[in-house]
Amino acid sequence: MPTHRAVGTTPVRKTHRSTAIRLAAIAAVAVTAAACGSGDPAPAPGAGNGTPAALEGVGPITLASGKDTSGNMQKQVDEWNKLHPDQKVTIVELPESADQQRQQMVQNAQAQSDAYGVLNLDVVWTAEFAANQWIVALPENEFPLDKLLPATVETGKYFNKLYAVPTTSDGGLLYYRKDLLDAVGAQPPKTWAEMQEICEKVKADNASLDCYAGQFEKYEGLTVNFSEAVNSAGGVVVGEDGKPNVNTPEAAKGLQFLVDGVKSGMIPAEARTYKEEEGRRAFQAGELIFHRQWPYQYALANASDGSSKVAGKFAVAPLPGLDGPGASTLGGHNYAVSAFTPNKKTALDFIKFMVDEKQQRANLMATSQAPTWAALYDDAELVEQFPYLPFLKASIENAQKRPSVVKYQEVSTAIQEAAYSAMSGEVAPADALATLQTKLEQLTAS
Ligand code: GLC
Repeated sequence: MPTHRAVGTTPVRKTHRSTAIRLAAIAAVAVTAAACGSGDPAPAPGAGNGTPAALEGVGPITLASGKDTSGNMQKQVDEWNKLHPDQKVTIVELPESADQQRQQMVQNAQAQSDAYGVLNLDVVWTAEFAANQWIVALPENEFPLDKLLPATVETGKYFNKLYAVPTTSDGGLLYYRKDLLDAVGAQPPKTWAEMQEICEKVKADNASLDCYAGQFEKYEGLTVNFSEAVNSAGGVVVGEDGKPNVNTPEAAKGLQFLVDGVKSGMIPAEARTYKEEEGRRAFQAGELIFHRQWPYQYALANASDGSSKVAGKFAVAPLPGLDGPGASTLGGHNYAVSAFTPNKKTALDFIKFMVDEKQQRANLMATSQAPTWAALYDDAELVEQFPYLPFLKASIENAQKRPSVVKYQEVSTAIQEAAYSAMSGEVAPADALATLQTKLEQLTAS
């Protein structure tokens, strides 16, 4: 069995702390300079120093969020708008790719624009947005944090203060064609080798099918898939001590799974152009036997309106690994209040509305997205509709976190480059990992 060590928070905080101290020092200089009339911008109103300021201002706001592939977000917002006609929320839809969403949010914040009121932040962006004071510290006692899965709440904190409230979580699942596995008498695989064997059996009668895909385009999804492969082979990307540790035999085995997959054709060539949606379309078209994907695909692939050829023909299982079950990377999204919106009280109240059990239950039922409200995972009616909820909960609780650092995007870009160059055969996996180790050491050095 691989050892799936949880990435501890203490050493990561050490990195935060020193980075944040440096940032605080820079901010202090900036404030002094502004006071001296250098023209530097003053800190954002209400951004403060991590102590929640009173969130005031009532009126219309926007919700900036990545492309809503579920179609349900507008319905939730409509419900809020009906109840609050003077505080209407308008969705600003950002691109589908996590990296592009972040880019637009960063540009907006750097311009101190009030175009975005509430930000739907990926769990990995909290440190950067909080350290730069682009989002405001939130009053913890105003949210039902003790009802949410603790791992998800942790992702919304920076320096132990709440900056973003988790509204949806995410854990990787192995979607498999139950009809095809049943036909060859196979159970869902626990290891990568078993997965390959099953594919060979299934393909004996279905030659045109592809075996396995995940999110392998060069973007945040690849960081997730690479990290899961490394963790599922017993390795770590950034260890419990906050230090990168990818130049190891375990990490090499994880990367090798992806590289060999491409070489042998187990992973089809097109999969290197797949983000979540391209992969979903392939799975729904019946082209894949196995697909690593987030929970949101469950409802869409089961739609009975003709949009999915595999409705009723698939099931989900925990991710496989090298010697036994694999480990998921923790995904998900948190709502934060922009430091630049004048209507912060409305933003706060809207977040409270969205995180509430009622909204989370309705959203799960409509979209199959992973809630953050813990009790929903144990609700018999919901478990009947979504049989994977118990192991999704365990997988979120045990999921490996991506490094929580201010320079997260640079860390992720380095990981994407290493994984992509090795998977496309341009760089030998050992060289890719050695280079990645050096880059990560530089990026996480305190
Ligand atoms: C999902 C996850 C998010 C992750 C992204 C990668 O949206 O919730 O955490 O970064 O996928 O594509």
